[in-house]
This record gives sequence, C-alpha cells and structure tokens, in this order.
Amino acid sequence: MRAMSTSAPELSPEALAHVGLRPVLLSDDGRALRLLDQRELPARETWLTLTAVEEVAEAIERMAVRGAPAIGCAAAMGLAAAAHGFPEDPDAFRRACLAAIDRLAHTRPTAVNLFVALEQMRQALDGLAPGADVATARAALESTARRHARADIAACLAMGEHGAPLLPEGGTILTHCNTGALATAGWGTALGVIRRAHAMGRRIRVLVDETRPVLQGARLTAWELVHDGIPAEVIADNMAGALMARGLVQAAIVGADRIARNGDVANKIGTYTVAVLCRHHGVPFYVAAPWTTIDLELGSGAEIPIEERDESEIHVHGDRRMTPIGVGARNPAFDVTPAALITKIITERGVHEPSALAELA
Ligand code: MRU
Repeated sequence: MRAMSTSAPELSPEALAHVGLRPVLLSDDGRALRLLDQRELPARETWLTLTAVEEVAEAIERMAVRGAPAIGCAAAMGLAAAAHGFPEDPDAFRRACLAAIDRLAHTRPTAVNLFVALEQMRQALDGLAPGADVATARAALESTARRHARADIAACLAMGEHGAPLLPEGGTILTHCNTGALATAGWGTALGVIRRAHAMGRRIRVLVDETRPVLQGARLTAWELVHDGIPAEVIADNMAGALMARGLVQAAIVGADRIARNGDVANKIGTYTVAVLCRHHGVPFYVAAPWTTIDLELGSGAEIPIEERDESEIHVHGDRRMTPIGVGARNPAFDVTPAALITKIITERGVHEPSALAELA
C-alpha cells in the first residue's frame, strides 16, 4: 500500500491566494478539468476544458499537463469531473470509476504521484457507506481530488521554506526540466525553492538547462522565471560542465518523479549527468520533491519504471525533421541518479540525507 497522506498542513484561503499560477483546476461546479496547455507555452496561453476520461488520459500522455505532482492532480480532478457522465446506477458507476482509474494509470509510468492520487480516489470509493448513492460518491471523489491538490500546494510552500536557506547568497543555481507552478498544483518543488529564495531577498541567478527533447527548461521554466522577475539564462544541456569548470555554478536543484527507499531519484533525462558533473566539480546537488514522490515499495532506483517516449521527439523539431530518414533514435524520458550523488533531499518534512528517507517513513 502506498503512502496516502502528506504531513503538509491544510492551506488557508489567504495562502492559496498568494500561490499565483495554478495550471490544473477543477471547475467550481466540479464537472470539468481545466488545464493550461503546456505544449503551447511560451507562445500561447491556451486553457483546455476536459470532461471525459479519454480526454484527460490523452492530455497526460501528450504532455498538455506534465510534471509529477501535476499529473497526479490532473488524474484525480479529471476522474472527479468525468464521474458526472458515469451511469446513475451505483454498481455501474463504480465499474466506470474503476475502469477510468485503470485507463489513467496506463498513461505515464514513471511519476509515482499519479498512482498515489489514483489510489486516494479508489479509497474514496471504498470508504463510502454501504448503499451510498451516486451523488454521494461524486461528492467524495470531488473532495478527495481537491484535497489532493491543496496538499500538493501546501507541500510545495513548505519545501520552499526548508530549501531556500540552502541556496547561497549571490550564487548561480542550475536547474533542469520544469519543476515550477506548471509541474504541480501550484508554486513548484525545486523551482518553488528558487522562488522562495528570491522572494526572501536572496540575490540568486538561475541557469536553466533547455532540457532536450521536449524543452521543458527553455519553454516552461524560463517562462516562469521571466514572469517572476528572477534573473535567468537558458543553456543547452551540454554546456553545464564547461560552466561548472569555470566556477560559474554554486548549486544545482532539481525535482523528482519517483524516489526509491534508498534515496535513488528518477527525474527528467539528463539529471544524472548534472549530478555527476556536480560531484566532479564539488557543487552541491539538491533534489526537492513532495513526500508523495517517495515510493517506499521500491528498494532502489533500478526498480523504477522508466518511460520510453516516441522517437519522433528526437527526430523532429517544430515542423522540421533534424535527422536523416533511416536512422533510429532512443528516447528514455527519465534517468536515475544514485543517492550517493545527492547532497540533500528536500521535502515538506524538512531537509534529509538521501539514505535516511526510509527511517522517516
Ligand atoms: O516528462 P515531464 O515533463 O513530466 O518530466 C517532469 C520532470 O521530470 C520533473 O522534473 C519532475 O516531474 C518534478 S516536477 C515538480
């Protein structure tokens, strides 16, 4: 059984108001999932309104919504919204819910937050009193989904408080992929730590790995940093080592899609390379992730399922094919960074030695 709760406090309405962008929302009437379409950023801010399970599943698969916590929130809210279209007969309603959970669980395999969120939704159904009507079941799904998203925001804010003091005054911080508001229910994990450090007056600059092949760094992280007025420069992924060798990076901080019991971390492909470079150059390497990202069922990173995405993401840039017809491509979407390369893991519970996670469970 996966860990079902976080230790993050409930959010006050005032705290929620300060969070800013919330890219995954359930409409006020609970009947639609609203998503800021991340494929269109930074060129266009397009909001999708989804009401059917298949639409939600495809939005996750095609990365209209991405980032481990955001995927979990989208699945939970998407199920709650879609349940308004499920049959009125209680048995048929439950069967439709379980089929929806199964479909959503087969969208993206690596981020454990998806499975935690879906398990919470299944438990909401299981916790209904015998003979409960469908209206009661829909209300339980909705409140569970909203609670899941609020807990994620609260965890992000707490990670910011714990992690910001680790970022050195006047330092340049390297980050990889997008771990900001866009990757969560709001605020962000690793980028949330950076945002908090900036908000508390720490003078920092950010180096943003562009993050091939989907460019979450160049398109999304850079967009968030510009919006927040945090000084930032984008670099091609293969530049980080040279800049570290010149003493131009003081810390690196990234997010996580799944963390094994021994502290090994799966995150966006290229994270492992950054961690190795940090170790070689004596740069601290931090991981920030909510407790829901820790999968205590897995002994080590070798057990984490790694998503392989379509070759076309490597071959094609925009509308142009960059490789000759006839050549193949590999496209693992994530890699595993061994715990030994990680300086600290930041969660909503505090700042941890990677090897000590299991003791805190
Ligand atoms: O393929 P993506 O864009 O969903 O991958 C996202 C990442 O790897 C993030 O670093 C991770 O989910 C942490 S987000 C808070």
